[in-house]
Amino acid sequence: MPTDVVLIPGDGIGPEVADAARRVLDAAGADLRWTVSHAGEAAIKAGEKQLLPQSTLDLIGEYGVALKGPCTTPVGTGFRSVNVLLRKTLDLYAAVRPIRSMEGVKSRYTGVDVVIVRENTEGLYAGIENEITKGVATSLKVATEGASRRIADYAFRYARERGRKKVSVFHKANIMKLTDGMFIRCAREVHEARYSDIVYEEVIVDAACMKLVQDPTKFDVILAENLYGDILSDLCAGLVGGLGVTPGANIGEKGAVFEAVHGSAPDIAGKGIANPLALVMSGVMMLNWLSATRHAPHFRDAASRIRAAYDRALAEGAVTRDLGGQHGTMEFADELVKRL
Ligand code: NAI
Repeated sequence: MPTDVVLIPGDGIGPEVADAARRVLDAAGADLRWTVSHAGEAAIKAGEKQLLPQSTLDLIGEYGVALKGPCTTPVGTGFRSVNVLLRKTLDLYAAVRPIRSMEGVKSRYTGVDVVIVRENTEGLYAGIENEITKGVATSLKVATEGASRRIADYAFRYARERGRKKVSVFHKANIMKLTDGMFIRCAREVHEARYSDIVYEEVIVDAACMKLVQDPTKFDVILAENLYGDILSDLCAGLVGGLGVTPGANIGEKGAVFEAVHGSAPDIAGKGIANPLALVMSGVMMLNWLSATRHAPHFRDAASRIRAAYDRALAEGAVTRDLGGQHGTMEFADELVKRL
């Protein structure tokens, strides 16, 4: 019986990388039945009235899992982010972004192996903004004990289950004493209560960024509230070769949506040159998650085959332009399929 998965192609390069990722997952023998459903500008183009149609939310609710391409959000004006809304509506509270150096991908560092665990539902992303009088605007940062404890627990559990040694919480509690203050207090309490086997440290986010670029190998699991986690994800992507190689997952109690860290890349959309690897890697995370949550070991086998295929393709220099190669999006997917 195939497992039902929602495929959201998204905007910009989304449909191109989603096609490529689907091709690789299918070729690896992952027994999935894809249902395409739209979100973002693509939903409006497909005749929907909402950027995040109820039908898409219902389908993710029913199947409990989706692989998603990026959705465009206008800067400064226009609608709120579809991505933020999706994560909030489905309570996908943990964004998990593994950042790993890979052979064949040029970067300034080697041996980087960091996982960012980002609180995904509150902070400044609550979207509570007001222009209180002309020329004066405010944005409300929301922190709750419940969400702060929940994400801390997730980060420590994640570390323990994967044999990781240390969780570093990045914060600015010296300035935001109540919100970030609460975030680190909750992390500290969760650590003391249940995870004393994991090393715990608190680092002020600005100094932490400097330490990250000086020597990223000093970090293991990084726990951060929403905005810092967002910025850190791109910073860390830059440490290992860029957004083309940085996957992600949004995990909740009732389901999960897997998507790359990158956006819709309007500058290269429609040219067939985007790197699909970050979404393929997100697909691998999805297969491992399905294997664990649905007790279906064959998904883990398919995931291992794909991982071995892209490790080999990268090492052999069969890469897209962002990584210094010549391959187009589908051509790269074909290289992976050949090596499965
Ligand atoms: P972006 O990640 O789309 O692009 C940044 C740079 O990286 C661009 O030069 C782009 O060409 C390059 N790039 C990104 N992905 C690539 C790939 N797979 N292969 C090769 N090159 C790649 O970030 P930007 O420009 O800030 O955002 C564009 C749009 O995407 C915005 O509307 C933004 O809101 C949205 N966005 C959506 C996300 C999501 O759906 N999860 C996440 C981040 C941004």
